[in-house]
Amino acid sequence: MTELNKIALKIISNGKGILAADESNGTMTKRLEAVGVPSTAENRLLFRESIMSSQSMKECIGGVILYDETINQTTSFGKSIPDLISSSGAVPGIKVDVGAKDLANSSEEKITEGLDGLRERLKKYYSLGARFTKWRGVYIISEKYPSKLAINCNAHALARYSALVQESKMVPIVEPEVLMAGDHSADICLKKTSEVIKKCFDELILHKVDLSGIILKPNMILAGSHSKNKISNEEVSQKTLQCLKNSVPNEVPGIAFLSGGQSEIEATENLNLINKNNKTNFIMTYSYGRALQQSALKMWSKNIKDIEATQNTFNHRAKMCTLAAQGKWSHALENK
Ligand code: 13P
Repeated sequence: MTELNKIALKIISNGKGILAADESNGTMTKRLEAVGVPSTAENRLLFRESIMSSQSMKECIGGVILYDETINQTTSFGKSIPDLISSSGAVPGIKVDVGAKDLANSSEEKITEGLDGLRERLKKYYSLGARFTKWRGVYIISEKYPSKLAINCNAHALARYSALVQESKMVPIVEPEVLMAGDHSADICLKKTSEVIKKCFDELILHKVDLSGIILKPNMILAGSHSKNKISNEEVSQKTLQCLKNSVPNEVPGIAFLSGGQSEIEATENLNLINKNNKTNFIMTYSYGRALQQSALKMWSKNIKDIEATQNTFNHRAKMCTLAAQGKWSHALENK
C-alpha cells in the first residue's frame, strides 16, 4: 500500500466522509448574508471553528477541505485550524484551484484555472498541514453541452493538477461536476457524466497519476433541476452506480459525492441507496458542502454565540451522512 493510498483510505473508510468547507469568501458571503450574518473574517472563522470542534469530527468526518483564508486562521481558543482538524483524527485538505473562468471560443462554458505557480503553493499548504487537495472542473449540460472542448480542457487541467499534488505527497480530489441546472433527463446526465469522467481518467493515466492515491468526487446522476421527468431515489442510485462502474478504473479506492444543490435529506437518501445497491469495490461516501452545513448554518445564525445548538445540528447531519455511507440510514433514524 502506498502512502497516498493510506491517506485516501484514512479519509473515506468506515463510513467516514468529507466536510467540504472550502467556500471562497465570495460564496461564503452569499451563504452568510442569506441567513442575515455579516460576512467578516471573524464570523467565517467562528462558524467554521464551531462545527470543526464538534463531536462528529471524531466519529464521522475523515477529512475537511479548507479555503486559503481558513487554513491560515487560528481559532478563538488558540489552535490553528489544521491542528484542530488533525487533533480530532481527521485529515486537513485544501482547495487549490482559483476558480472557473470563461472558456475561450465556447463562451457559455468554463475552464478551471490555478496551474501557474501551483507547485510552490502546494509546498506551502503541505507545511501548513494539508495532506489532500481539491480541484473542481465544472460543466454545464444540455443536448449540446458540455462540448468536447470543455471536456478535454478540464480533464487536462485536472490531470496536471493531480500529478503535481501527488509529487507533493498529497492526495488529489478529482472533482468533475456536471451541474444540475437545466431541463435535461437523467439519461442525458448519465451519458454526459460518463463521457466527462472517462475523459478525466484518460488524461490522469496519460499524466501517470497513481489512481490508488486519488479520490473521485463526482455528481450523482439526476434529472435536471427544471426537468419534468424527475426519477426516483432508487433510480438515481442505479444510474449513478451504472455510470461509475463503467467509467472508473478499479484501482481508484473511493468515490466521495458532492451534493450539488440537493437538499440535505435527498443527498443522504440517495447516498444510502447507492451503498445498499453497491456491488463495486469502490468505497462510496460523501464530500458535502451545503448538504452537511445548511441546517447548522441556519441554527448558528439565530445566535452565533450558541455553539452547542450549532454543533448538535451539525452532529446530527454528519451522523446521518455516515449512516448513509454504510447503507444504514432510514427516515426513522433521521426523525428520531
Ligand atoms: P456541495 O456539496 O454544496 O455541492 O459542495 C461540494 C463541493 O465541494 C463543491 O465543489
